[in-house]
Amino acid sequence: MCGIVGYAGHRPAVPLVVEELHRLEYRGYDSSGVACVQQGRIRVVRAQGKLSQLEQLLSQQPPSTATTGMGHTRWATHGAPAVRNAHPHTSNDGTMALVHNGIIENYLEIKNDLQARGYVFHSDTDTEVLVNLIQECRKSEPDIQKAFAAALNMAHGAYAVCLMTESEPDVFYAARMSAPLILGVGTGENFVASDIPAFLPYTRRVVFLEDGEMVRVTCSSYEVRKIADLAPVQARVETIEWDVQAAQKSGYRHFMLKEIFEQPKVIRDGLTGRLSADRGGVTLHELDGLPVPSRLSIVACGTSSHAGMWGRHMLEALAEIPVQVEIASEYRYKEKLLFQPGEMVLVISQSGETADTLAALRRARECGATVLGLCNVVGSSIARESDAVLYTQAGPEISVASTKAMCSQMLLLALMSLYWGGRKGLVDSSKCSAMLGTLLSLPGMLEKALPEMHERAITLSRKYAQSRNFFYLGRGHCYPLALEGALKLKELSYIHAEGYASGEMKHGPIALIDSTFPTFAICLNDELLPKVKSNIVEVQARQGRVIAVTNAGVDVPAEDLWVVPDVPSTLAGFVVLPAVQLFSYEMADYLGKDVDQPRNLAKSVTVE
Ligand code: G6P
Repeated sequence: MCGIVGYAGHRPAVPLVVEELHRLEYRGYDSSGVACVQQGRIRVVRAQGKLSQLEQLLSQQPPSTATTGMGHTRWATHGAPAVRNAHPHTSNDGTMALVHNGIIENYLEIKNDLQARGYVFHSDTDTEVLVNLIQECRKSEPDIQKAFAAALNMAHGAYAVCLMTESEPDVFYAARMSAPLILGVGTGENFVASDIPAFLPYTRRVVFLEDGEMVRVTCSSYEVRKIADLAPVQARVETIEWDVQAAQKSGYRHFMLKEIFEQPKVIRDGLTGRLSADRGGVTLHELDGLPVPSRLSIVACGTSSHAGMWGRHMLEALAEIPVQVEIASEYRYKEKLLFQPGEMVLVISQSGETADTLAALRRARECGATVLGLCNVVGSSIARESDAVLYTQAGPEISVASTKAMCSQMLLLALMSLYWGGRKGLVDSSKCSAMLGTLLSLPGMLEKALPEMHERAITLSRKYAQSRNFFYLGRGHCYPLALEGALKLKELSYIHAEGYASGEMKHGPIALIDSTFPTFAICLNDELLPKVKSNIVEVQARQGRVIAVTNAGVDVPAEDLWVVPDVPSTLAGFVVLPAVQLFSYEMADYLGKDVDQPRNLAKSVTVE
């Protein structure tokens, strides 16, 4: 996920574009760049790191007088965060520059073809391939718009792009296909951006471009056309009523809520490009060069460790790999790290910077272990120091309490289980298609279910907000979700909560139960259902009130039922997770807590 902007107007374009990029920095911040046409030539300035690096570089150069320009802030997908991979990218003849958000799936094919025609590439990106394809198309079609459309018609995938050329210094072109791009209509100036806040201080009048549309923009005009045949499109101008801050949250009250609702997209994005005909139906080329581990130690902190615990069930069941899950702060100080031949370590971290997890990784590597990293932030320390890294591609997570990152980690762990199980010949085609079928159906199912789940969370939070203690119970693959539910409630609402394996309650914790101490039980329609029901009855016998997350038609003896969609047992965690997240979110919001920045916590704990 990256942010792009384009501007044509009467103000100095470069500072304005940088200002706009600041409002898109939440979309990525590992490198950035701007382009304009200066004295008849394309001028590009790019820097690695946060936008402040780009600003510093620009301040050392003569100011640009251009009033048309474009910019990009990057969250790396193709190629490491580095200046050579930063956007804008230019064509070999230097006459065009392009910024891009998204992925061109057939870029390798196009790249090979262009290389055979003598094109040279200076980056690892698919964007540089696309801008050179436009150059190639211009050989037979000098009109820029037609050449741009011809190139886009050859590219498959998801993109939002913005193009500038030397021959039209006061014009930019933009196009979208399955990636956000909005046109801002001003007075004597026009904009495009990946998200509305970029230009909201300048105009509230917008055109939501549709997939398959492109636009030619000057300071005084914009023409929307279909990419397929350049047929003109009647654009509808709408007026935005939100303020900048709310817009960044896309209308959600908090980043946390937005991120919970992004989980269908996280699953969809995580599956893109990961499915294949062999190896358990999954392609994870990052692991192709490594043997299948004989054993796996998963090491992580907080929410990431709960994802690891959830993944253990999948890895053991599908790939028959014995797994142990360790808290990083404990693991790093173990007297001895004992490895069996072929054993590997998997460190999981959203930020890739958590100090304990990083130290655990370093210690394991010193002891000779092969370490795999599962990270969200590209180019983070853990990603760089691991022997192989898998990226969760969940996009920046802004709320301190982790939500969509866990969903993305669970998805990758499920895919790893299928992949390794496939390599060991353990996943037959019917098991594989059943699992993949369920995974593919999850985004649509969640998109439908989330609004209703949110309503249920609102109702239940009003009823239980005065409780000072909570138990969360789950068995098997739902036990880690019980731990995560309790952690979320503690983090956000400061209510004391403990997660327990349901069967463990009777060995002590049940002594605490009375009518003021409610229990949140995960009680799905699976083989453990009779066991969990018995545990709920034990709680009720002590006057404990119970909220049970369950499936339709299940007879659960609970005061409040929360019916979630049916998902085959092993993957049901993907619908339980948003339930526990939404409940904590609503409890905290109702109690007036600072949901996105809870007291005493940090997003990335880079100290011991
Ligand atoms: C902090 C955050 C948690 C997070 C944990 C691990 O404690 O507040 O939300 O789960 O760090 O972070 P990581 O980035 O390593 O996944």
